[in-house]
Amino acid sequence: MKRDRPRNGLVACALLAGTCIAAASIASVNATFSGDVARGQALYKGCEGCHSINDNDIGPRHRGVVGRRAGSVEDYAYSAALKSSGLIWDEATLDRWLTNPSALVPGTKMFFKIDDPQSRADIIAYLKEQK
Ligand code: HEC
Repeated sequence: MKRDRPRNGLVACALLAGTCIAAASIASVNATFSGDVARGQALYKGCEGCHSINDNDIGPRHRGVVGRRAGSVEDYAYSAALKSSGLIWDEATLDRWLTNPSALVPGTKMFFKIDDPQSRADIIAYLKEQK
């Protein structure tokens, strides 16, 4: 009996990992759902403590962010981590970013999360309009 225990533990780990992978792919599918721009604009108020569309603040300005290389606003002082991340901001990378910036880019200086997938999709839809 005792010998079986570590094995059971391994099965539990594998199952847990499976759950995590499933959760991650659901999140990225959600990002391709069409977000609600008007709702996104309202939710963006939560970003405005640090960001605006047209001006750098605590965070970089957001105009044109969708399609832009991460860390590429010339006159904003990014963390080295984000600057060298090699990310391009699209629906999928923004969804992962807003889910947990530090998980996507360890060492970033943005600490703000949106837990609800639909809210993330709505905010991303709004950002897409800010060309
Ligand atoms: C408490 C402050 C704060 C809040 C609130 C905040 N951010 Fe940020 N954000 C930052 C900082 C600081 C950075 C720069 C991160 C770095 O250099 O590592 C950043 C960077 C970003 C970037 C990367 C932009 C680029 O040019 O590469 C995006 C996209 C972003 N934030 C989106 C959002 C959105 C959308 C919200 C609201 C849902 C939000 N942030 C809320 C502080 C914040």
